[in-house]
Amino acid sequence: MKFLVFIFVGFHILSLGSGKSIYKNGITQRTFQDIKEEITSYEDVAKAIINLAVYGKSQNRSYERLELLVDTVGPRLSGSKNLEKAIQIMYQNLKQDGLENVHLEPVKVPHWERGEESAVMLAPRIHKMAILGLGSSIGTPPEGITAEVLVVTSFDELQRRAPEARGKIVVYNQPYVSYGMTVQYRVRGAAEAAKVGAVASLIRSVTSLSIYRWVIVFI
Ligand SMILES: *[C@@H]1O[C@H](CO)[C@@H](O)[C@H](O)[C@H]1NC(C)=O
Repeated sequence: MKFLVFIFVGFHILSLGSGKSIYKNGITQRTFQDIKEEITSYEDVAKAIINLAVYGKSQNRSYERLELLVDTVGPRLSGSKNLEKAIQIMYQNLKQDGLENVHLEPVKVPHWERGEESAVMLAPRIHKMAILGLGSSIGTPPEGITAEVLVVTSFDELQRRAPEARGKIVVYNQPYVSYGMTVQYRVRGAAEAAKVGAVASLIRSVTSLSIYRWVIVFI
């Protein structure tokens, strides 16, 4: 379905500029018309792929492949053994499907291993929290980190209260606005907390509605 949407969007944009040349680094490339014609020439192939996947003998194959990966491999972080397993499964599948030029190539990828994460609120009462460490988090010392928290609802508030953040665990209690906006707290939260001298950061999961969950990042 994504593929269909992509094609329509492409045509819409292309029709606005058809006939005009595209410039890149000052060098004239192909015209929009050229590109439009090239994309149009793939119409039959695209239709054949969509028909095969949606109605034909590959019907449900995406779901079945996903099911296979999720059930037999599970999470596939880059650089993990699970990812290797997933790659081997897909490699074998694509070969069995008779696709051309199926091969593997060595690549360098980031590698981060999840340790064991836990968090306990110590005051005003003892409360164990269900948390998940964000990928690439730096581990705590073996004894963990104990610190007071500073709860903020935005980066602006963190800036205003920067002097209070030193040595504390910054807790982002950000309202959910949209995925694009709210995910900034997951992307930049730890780095922004580090800049003001915090020792760790904790964010709410980036969603409009969820069962209780927090994510912690040690910095
Ligand atoms: C795909 O899944 C649907 C729903 O479970 C089922 O009715 C259909 O027969 C399946 N198609 C194939 C080719 O297995």
